[in-house]
Parts: sequence; structure tokens; C-alpha cells
Amino acid sequence: MAAALRRTFQVVTLAASPRRTLAGSLADRCLADRSLWDQLHTRPCQGSANTFDWFFGFEEIQGLLMPLLQEAKVSSPTRVLDVGCGTSSLCTGLYTKCPHPVDVLGVDFSPVAVAHMNSLMEGNQEQRPLCPGHPASRLHFMQADAQNLESVASTGSFHLILDKGTWDAVARGGLPEAYQLLSECLRVLSPQGTLIQFSDEDPDVRMPCLEQASQHWTVSMQELGPFRGITYFAYLIQGSH
Ligand SMILES: C[S@@+](CC[C@H](N)C(=O)[O-])C[C@H]1O[C@@H](n2cnc3c(N)ncnc32)[C@H](O)[C@@H]1O
Repeated sequence: MAAALRRTFQVVTLAASPRRTLAGSLADRCLADRSLWDQLHTRPCQGSANTFDWFFGFEEIQGLLMPLLQEAKVSSPTRVLDVGCGTSSLCTGLYTKCPHPVDVLGVDFSPVAVAHMNSLMEGNQEQRPLCPGHPASRLHFMQADAQNLESVASTGSFHLILDKGTWDAVARGGLPEAYQLLSECLRVLSPQGTLIQFSDEDPDVRMPCLEQASQHWTVSMQELGPFRGITYFAYLIQGSH
């Protein structure tokens, strides 16, 4: 995440600070802070899709996601949760491209990100509302703390949960907070479901954390990319398949 952090912080503020400081103590202090995220999400999104993705976008990982949704078709529509969705293309990509019925919920604690995604979904003067890939598909965005989803999600209710960069951000505020995020994701994951964390964090660091906190689930890892020269990882935490 250090490379992505450096790119983002350079754009936002503190251009005069040394890079090592940006990717270190400042980022560590701030990345769990909602006001920083509100500030970052206020920046205009680039490109025609009007989204901004950390690491990579929907296109790069649809080959991994689509088979998981195909497999989950037993319950229709398949419920998908993106924790810390930001203004990423994952939720909108799944909603517009998946040929099976999906019910996609993106949650973020930043009201700025949620407002942006709601306006994108509903359309505005420059853009039409998004069209679903299947007429029965649904898309929602809600402001919520992913460490406590009680108000938005019941136990075992999602078949696929996505976390792209959110553990990485939350862990900067402390590992107990990251474990709380994971525990909440596992609470709302169906026993046959899959949680995927996308990150650039090395498996030597991430796998022991996940294995320790995900007993009774199967933890595995896939390498992704390289995308723009960086190798990423998909950490899969799965129930019985
Ligand atoms: C690294 S960004 C990733 C955003 C998006 N998933 C992507 O891939 O572009 C981390 C996101 O997590 C959100 N976030 C951080 N802590 C959170 C929390 N406790 N609850 C909900 N969202 C949180 C931030 O607002 C931000 O949108």
C-alpha cells in the first residue's frame, strides 16, 4: 500500500514533506481517520467511469469474481458487500456487468464517498443512471463503520464480501481495529461464502494474521497482476464449498 499511499498523499497535501514520512508516521496516524478520507474522496474522480480505485479496478479482477458469483447462484439474487467501498469501480462493475442477479451493497464511513456513489448510480446532468447487467440486480450505498455493521447487515447474510484496501487503512490505526473489521466481515458472511481482501501486503505478513483470526474458515492466497508494475494479492477466506 505504500506506493498507492505515496501517490495519493502527494496529490492531496504536504508536497514538501519527505516521502518516507508520508508513507510512514503521517499515513499511520491518518488512515484510520474519517476526516482524512472525506478529504481524499472530495477530489474529482478521473475518467469517464467517474470512479477512483486503489490498487486496480473491476476490469482487472472480474475474472476472479465472476466464477464466485456463478457458484453462488443457488440463492438469487446473490448478495455482495464491499466494505470501505470508497469511490471504487467494484460495486458498479458488478452491478452493470454481472449477467446473474446480484444485490450489491457498498458501505463506507465517509459520507462524501457514499454521496458520490449514490449520485453516480442515480445519474446526473452529465451521466445517465447505471443500467444493471440483469433486470433483477440491485445496488445500494450506505454510510457505516465496517467495524460495526449491526445496523446494515445481519449475521450470515452475504455470499461475497470484498475488502480492497480497507484492512490496510484500518490496520494503520492498530491491528485490534483490523481484527475487529475482519471479525465483523466474518459475522455477516454466509457459512458457504467468500471474503476477499485485496492488498499489496506481503503474504508473509498478512497470512498469519488471517489464519489466526479466521479459525474454522479456509484461508488461501492468489497473486494478482502485476498491474502497472506492482504485484497484488487476493486473500480468500472461505466457508464450506
Ligand atoms: C484504501 S481506501 C480503498 C477504497 C476502495 N475500496 C478502493 O479500492 O478504491 C480505504 C477505504 O476504506 C474506508 N474506510 C476506512 N475505515 C473504515 C471503516 N472503519 N468503516 C468503513 N469504511 C472505512 C475509507 O473511507 C476508504 O474509502
